Amino acid sequence: MDMFVVRGGKPLVGRVAVSGAKNAALPIMAATLLADGSSRLAGVPDLVDVATLAELLRSLGVHVERTNADGMELSVVDTKPWVADYELVRRMRAGVCVLGPLLASRGRACVSLPGGCNIGHRPIDVHLKGLAALGADIRIENGYVIATATQLQGADIYLGGPFGSTVTGTCNVLSAAVLANGVTTIEAAACEPEVVDLGNLLIKMGARIEGLGTPFLRIEGVASLAGVEHTIIRDRIEAATLMIAAALTRGRVELEGVCLHHMTAVVEKLREIGVVLERCDNGAIAAGENRLVASDCIALPYPGIPTDIQAQLMALLCCADGLSIVTDKVFPDRFMHAPELVRLGARIRRESASAIINGVDRLSGACVMASDLRASAALVLASLAAEGDSVVRRIYHLDRGYERLDDKLRQLGADIRRVRDAPENMPGTLHSEILSDQLVDTDDVQPISGPNWHRAASRTPRQLS
Ligand code: EPZ
Repeated sequence: MDMFVVRGGKPLVGRVAVSGAKNAALPIMAATLLADGSSRLAGVPDLVDVATLAELLRSLGVHVERTNADGMELSVVDTKPWVADYELVRRMRAGVCVLGPLLASRGRACVSLPGGCNIGHRPIDVHLKGLAALGADIRIENGYVIATATQLQGADIYLGGPFGSTVTGTCNVLSAAVLANGVTTIEAAACEPEVVDLGNLLIKMGARIEGLGTPFLRIEGVASLAGVEHTIIRDRIEAATLMIAAALTRGRVELEGVCLHHMTAVVEKLREIGVVLERCDNGAIAAGENRLVASDCIALPYPGIPTDIQAQLMALLCCADGLSIVTDKVFPDRFMHAPELVRLGARIRRESASAIINGVDRLSGACVMASDLRASAALVLASLAAEGDSVVRRIYHLDRGYERLDDKLRQLGADIRRVRDAPENMPGTLHSEILSDQLVDTDDVQPISGPNWHRAASRTPRQLS
């Protein structure tokens, strides 16, 4: 298991390329199950989740091959497999993206129900409601969804859930409807750019889709789809993360390839907080030249502020003058990063469905524990701004969704090293209650959560013997 050792206080300066979007690549890879012939993708990020999905698709009869650093070729070679293995779906919730394409292309799909998740309850009831509306027979048995349909029929579907639209639910139902008989309408469809990118791929394959990027989609089913070439959009979540890194370290970073029109709400909010954001050739420049000021942030479905940058925004607001309130309307409990930020000297407390952040002049290095993909990014950002040494453990979470983030940060001047999680690699400057002559197995040491985590700062490090 690896950890990051970070010495904070170094301004990030320079130019870095934004990778392809994880949350577009995953449903797009799954959609190749629908096509005859091979598809060649560009802009496929080198991520653990992408590798896991590639493994899952191979188990489902798809030949998947990396053609170069960001290229991938996928072609269906066997249409008999129809069971998506628990071991693989367990590791990556987005494995559920194969459900719709499998059902539409093979008439049946057996996909493990995704397991638990540190960011909150993540049911797939709306996915199943949409597929049932298309005429699928849906059963839940032994932790698996078993969906069958001799021929899907177009239908009028409402896909709104209790927390608004569903991103992968829209991907699943859209990917099934394109091969259904007749016309399907989807109301309360997700409008995220990643869903639009999937829709654009399907149209290239021969699908007939109207309304992409709006909550109302109309799909006219076709008999078959053909493999295509497609370049995946850049990752707006990675871009926002790097913008915040530039601001927190009072640096100046040019982000090559970022699409600012995919992140209008984020740009608006960052500018309100005091981050300098300017367009430039083929990207944008982010700089931390002004004092940061408090701001209230509410994470919402697109085009609102994405829940996937809520943790990173919280890290930024920890260093902003004044009181900020952060609320997440998509995953209301997505605050596992808060107590770990408190360990870095932040002043945060939970108040019903929100977190209240009282900005501090400086953060101080500490040993912290990642709990999920975006929480780990927030802890890395805060460590970059903190005075002294920090250690971020369990960075396997980060590797699921960020392509070589430590390399990119080092390229910009950060003092960050990836090392094995072992006592000898713990900086001597760090006192941590888990630092002893042997590190506690990280699987046993849970991040602090629950109502008292704002008192985490009261935990005093055990004096080193
Ligand atoms: C996608 O997850 C993203 N993952 C998530 O990114 C992202 O946080 C999320 O959308 C919201 O934008 C991928 O695209 C692979 P949802 P998804 O279905 O589709 C509720 C990351 O860090 N809901 O849009 O699983 C659900 O509980 C990841 O990259 C139902 O109630 O999220 C949540 O509260 C984390 N029933 C809300 O809707 C359902 O059937 C939005 O979930 C489906 C969802």
